[in-house]
Amino acid sequence: MSEAQQIGQAARLLEEGKLVAFPTETVYGLGADAENPAAVASIYAAKGRPQDHPVIVHLAPEGRLDYWAADIPGQARALAQAFWPGPLTMILKRAPGIPDAVSGGQDTIGLRCPSHPVAVALLRAFKGGQGGIAAPSANKFGHVSPTLAQHVRDEFAGGELALVLDGGAAQVGIESTIVDLSRLATHGPVLLRPGHISADDIEAVIGQRPAAPDAAAPRASGTLESHYAPRTPVVLMERADLPATLARLAAAGRKAALIHFSGVHPAHAEIGLSANPHGYAHDLYAALRAMDGVSADVILVETPPQDAAWLGVNDRLRRAAHGSERVLDTLLHS
Ligand code: TXA
Ligand code: MG
Repeated sequence: MSEAQQIGQAARLLEEGKLVAFPTETVYGLGADAENPAAVASIYAAKGRPQDHPVIVHLAPEGRLDYWAADIPGQARALAQAFWPGPLTMILKRAPGIPDAVSGGQDTIGLRCPSHPVAVALLRAFKGGQGGIAAPSANKFGHVSPTLAQHVRDEFAGGELALVLDGGAAQVGIESTIVDLSRLATHGPVLLRPGHISADDIEAVIGQRPAAPDAAAPRASGTLESHYAPRTPVVLMERADLPATLARLAAAGRKAALIHFSGVHPAHAEIGLSANPHGYAHDLYAALRAMDGVSADVILVETPPQDAAWLGVNDRLRRAAHGSERVLDTLLHS
């Protein structure tokens, strides 16, 4: 079957209420018809995700913002103009008539127009380009997001998906930037999840810098402390501390996998990533999955630089490492 035929088949399956995984420029998505509450419910079941976590609705470039969102501020139209199609999700007030299943019961909706050509073709084929595809990342809840079709097949080996469209490696590699514009008057723009499109990029378009979310309102599942995590514990470590720690782990008979970007050290398994934040993001999730597959006791990750360009990467790494603070003590002293 040609790629065009597969995309057509994927659109029909979605229209029938089935689940289809598809590539986007950020990560692979697990898609369902956003206006079919039963289909949306099956996303939650397949992912093992709590029902109160809203999902992002993906639109074709010609999609109608006004159909999905209400009281759309000028800032949202300006950001759509500047960054769509592309890796930006906007949280807006949900239009009346849009099922609340996609919003986990909240009165808002997350909207994004992806730029991956397969995603765009699928969105154009689905419901004549006028529908919305609800799609979280195509991984089990809390696990690492998929950046290859094979990652999706590995996550969902149980026949949960009607089809997996293969669009090659996701170009950005980490999930879209999420900016909340639903409470502009009282809260201003809020950056719920950092990503490829930065706070600077957003400020340059709307003249307002999105603020970090207040800890009292963890509304995005990407903002849960533990997320994007492999099964093997992840520990972040400064470069200077790596050689001694690797030597102590080896002496204790422990297997350490290493993800670095500045030079190889002897380890049970190692992978080197780019020293450029975009190149690093592109390969990060595949590296975490690969190092999760070498039966190591721990994955050591060389701490990246802390400047703004690395915000999205550091956010994902911090969450992947959450809860592993005591792992080295245990491995070295028991
Ligand atoms: O790059 C991406 O955004 C990928 C691709 C597939 O588009 N999708 C993705 O979806 O990362 P997911 O479900 O893994 O993460 C979506 C995030 C969640 O943290 C969710 O809570 C938040 O978006 N979100 C969606 N709708 C929301 C809403 N109405 N209010 C607040 N947060 C929302
Ligand atoms: Mg996700």
